[in-house]
Amino acid sequence: MLTNSPITSLLSSSSLTLLLLLLVFSTIFVNPINGSQFSITEATIDDIHLAFSENQLSSRQLVDLYLDQIEALNPLLRSVLEVNPDALNQADEADRERQKAAAKDQGRRSLGELHGIPILLKDSIGTKDKLNTTCGSYALLGSTVARDSGVVQRLRKAGAVILGKASLSEWYGVRSSEIPDGWCARGGQALNPYVESADPCGSSSGPAISVAANMVSVSLGTETDGSIICPADHNSVVGIKPTVGLTSRAGVIPISPRQDTIGPICRTVTDAVYVLDAIVGFDPRDYEATKAASVFIPPGGYRQFLNEDGLKGKILGVVREPFLDSYNGTSAIPAFEHHLNVLRQRGATIVDNLEIANLDVIMDPSQSGELIALLAEFKISINDYLKELSNSTVRSLADIIAFNLNNPVIEKLEEYGQDKFLASENTSGIGEQEIEAMEMMANLSKFGFEKLMKDNNLDAMVTIGSGACTVLAIGGYPAITVPAGYESNGMPFGISFGGLRGSEPKLIEISYAFEQATRERRPPSFLDREMSSSHHLMQT
Ligand SMILES: *[C@@H]1O[C@H](CO)[C@@H](O)[C@H](O)[C@H]1NC(C)=O
Ligand SMILES: *[C@@H]1O[C@H](CO)[C@@H](O)[C@H](O)[C@H]1NC(C)=O
Ligand SMILES: *[C@@H]1O[C@H](CO)[C@@H](O)[C@H](O)[C@H]1NC(C)=O
Ligand SMILES: *[C@@H]1O[C@H](CO)[C@@H](O)[C@H](O)[C@H]1NC(C)=O
Ligand SMILES: *[C@@H]1O[C@H](CO)[C@@H](O)[C@H](O)[C@H]1NC(C)=O
Repeated sequence: MLTNSPITSLLSSSSLTLLLLLLVFSTIFVNPINGSQFSITEATIDDIHLAFSENQLSSRQLVDLYLDQIEALNPLLRSVLEVNPDALNQADEADRERQKAAAKDQGRRSLGELHGIPILLKDSIGTKDKLNTTCGSYALLGSTVARDSGVVQRLRKAGAVILGKASLSEWYGVRSSEIPDGWCARGGQALNPYVESADPCGSSSGPAISVAANMVSVSLGTETDGSIICPADHNSVVGIKPTVGLTSRAGVIPISPRQDTIGPICRTVTDAVYVLDAIVGFDPRDYEATKAASVFIPPGGYRQFLNEDGLKGKILGVVREPFLDSYNGTSAIPAFEHHLNVLRQRGATIVDNLEIANLDVIMDPSQSGELIALLAEFKISINDYLKELSNSTVRSLADIIAFNLNNPVIEKLEEYGQDKFLASENTSGIGEQEIEAMEMMANLSKFGFEKLMKDNNLDAMVTIGSGACTVLAIGGYPAITVPAGYESNGMPFGISFGGLRGSEPKLIEISYAFEQATRERRPPSFLDREMSSSHHLMQT
């Protein structure tokens, strides 16, 4: 159990009591007909479908519970930017469809795993509805996208309820090196629900915080270099960073077509896999990448790899230096050794003390070519993205820079600057320098991570924390992070499994089997207390 309660320290004890009372009444739905209770705290998609099928809960009631939770927690955590005014209507529609299917004796499978399930989207994932898509910046507020992003089209088809938009590090941190993780102008500073003073990491901070604090069932984030895996790791939730191209980037605010990917952030591997199954696939609007990656998608989808024996026969590589260094002296180190033993006991072979060639170069974006490439790619990609918007006052990166100069107070320009925007604006397309940078990264990946994997016949590389993200980012490789424990101050850490392109089936088997063997995730302690006090209250 956690010892630290971040929310406690934010509030006087009387307002804390008030908050807990609000939570107790709002997170549990008591069915007026049969008296049954449903609590959203740590509810999985399977739990929710069971409650739906037993008529204990409707999608509308579920959305109401989450809206109450957001209302209670968001003033503190600031992880949600907007709730969807149409969420309750979408839930009603899902309830009607479920009743119709039940009348025809068709169950959950005919409707899909996400039917009636509320999902929160990072504020860079475009939706053509009443929600804004702004990357956290005032510059895009009030603009409208031409159509739903590719992943949102798939979510709607799967019957998911779009609950709202989640906060993030503004412009993914591409605006400046001074933007704090989890800060954006529209939302302010989002907080880690485990340790208030701790880094929530970014850029998908809002999705990770919101699922961690049970403000929604599931969420979607995006990653270019660490932006799914790191916030999931820091907020004790599961993140899947898919192989680049497995999920469409069309209609999502871009950084780089080489590295951008969209993936689930959820409380369990199973929930994340259900979301992954819903969003993968070819999209003509992201033609080349989704066509190339579509060969990886297994017939029958990814859920077949939710296998408790998934560690049997797997070979896992451990690269200690430098990934363990930042945890030196903390309880994460003994926890990692313990987890390696669990992996062995469950049938995996650990190949320890491996090295990745040129790791120091790979880890330094100014040496690897990553910085040069991303700055040039961002300018091209964001200018293309902005062209498709309606009602937008900004049409180019130059316009965004000007917007910030004209709105220095709301965009905190003095404090955080926009040095990376200026450096990006200063680039002029993919020239010799950029091509060389991309070839360098391809070469570093081939002789680095790929060689490590092939020489040692590895199924995955296993790391404590999220330090290996850059190794995987520059090659478009996938990763999954699973909660792995808490430091003595309550700060969560995860364990991450990275693999070759298209190796999601293996990574899912490994991470699911690990999760089932360890079950380290705990909700933030203020919710833990609510769970036990709720029993007490309900009996009185
Ligand atoms: C989107 O932004 C506009 C401001 O331009 C605001 O009026 C509107 O309420 C926002 N939409 C939602 C769903 O919050
Ligand atoms: C870890 O800490 C120990 C002592 O606390 C020190 O001897 C060792 O050099 C440290 N290792 C790293 C990689 O920082
Ligand atoms: C956006 O612009 C279109 C015309 O381009 C206009 O019809 C529509 O009313 C505008 N919407 C908003 C929210 O301003
Ligand atoms: C822009 O590029 C020029 C020449 O390539 C360089 O001298 C200058 O420092 C750059 N400015 C920024 C803001 O990066
Ligand atoms: C690629 O990396 C290998 C091994 O580090 C090196 O020998 C080779 O010169 C590199 N090639 C290029 C084009 O950088």
